[in-house]
Amino acid sequence: MIRYDGKVVLITGGTAGIGLAAAALARALGAQVAIAGRRVEQGREAAAGLGPDVLFVPADVSHDADVRRLVGAVGERFGRLDVLVNNAGVIRRRPVADEDAAGWDDVMAINLRGAFLCCKHALPLLIASRGAIVNVSSALAFRSRLGTTPAYNASKAGMIALTQALAVRYGPDGVRANAVCPSFVVTDLNRDLWDSWSPEQRAELVARFPLRCLGTPEDVARAILFLASDAATWISGVALLVDGGLSAA
Ligand SMILES: NC(=O)c1ccc[n+]([C@@H]2O[C@H](COP(=O)([O-])OP(=O)(O)OC[C@H]3O[C@@H](n4cnc5c(N)ncnc54)[C@H](OP(=O)(O)O)[C@@H]3O)[C@@H](O)[C@H]2O)c1
Repeated sequence: MIRYDGKVVLITGGTAGIGLAAAALARALGAQVAIAGRRVEQGREAAAGLGPDVLFVPADVSHDADVRRLVGAVGERFGRLDVLVNNAGVIRRRPVADEDAAGWDDVMAINLRGAFLCCKHALPLLIASRGAIVNVSSALAFRSRLGTTPAYNASKAGMIALTQALAVRYGPDGVRANAVCPSFVVTDLNRDLWDSWSPEQRAELVARFPLRCLGTPEDVARAILFLASDAATWISGVALLVDGGLSAA
């Protein structure tokens, strides 16, 4: 039975979608929870929905000063940090020839530099608690599928390399680092795409998954909270596909 009593969990992008589901599960398992996101109203509402003791810190993970302030606020409020979930992310649908440097940089700055900055600033607390990092990568780090999201896919592959670097360098300090790699889960990230498909196109996508269903934010949240928990004490440096079997097909 996984429990998080006495532990503090910070989830970037914890104000919506997969991050919000992970925050709700962490709370249900006994953790004290902090969430971060850029939209203040969205964040306040999410925190209020999660419970009175949940900390929301408005922050853009691509900005060094914001991340420094975020981690500082968590340390000040809770006095420790046991789990960092680098979940904040954005996607852009532009094939390489249509992408521009600014768009590429935006995706990299949020998805990859953001994860790096959060790790950098949180590591002193994580080393002190012998804590864990979970990076939310993507199944698109391994297979490009449509080929229309190159910056996103590259950023997510970079997160796996970052995960391995963290696992190797900070394992001796007792810090574990793992990644989860979800496939298609309908959230704000891709709802426009999902809404643009006909019922036949949706059914065709679902039929490609051996388990014959799409994942939910809760499916991914369970994988995140497993990897960060004491049930996974000898698991570090892995990239766990959470994809309904799609990558095996
Ligand atoms: N949904 C999928 O199919 C899928 C599949 C594989 C991987 N993933 C990954 O799962 C993670 C969560 O995605 P989701 O589907 O739950 O998306 P979502 O519903 O759009 O949620 C994204 C979250 O990230 C936050 N965020 C975005 N940019 C940020 C920034 N610069 N600084 C701080 N927070 C930021 C958003 O809040 P603000 O906008 O207020 O900042 C929001 O809380 C992402 O890393 C995504 O790449 C998703």
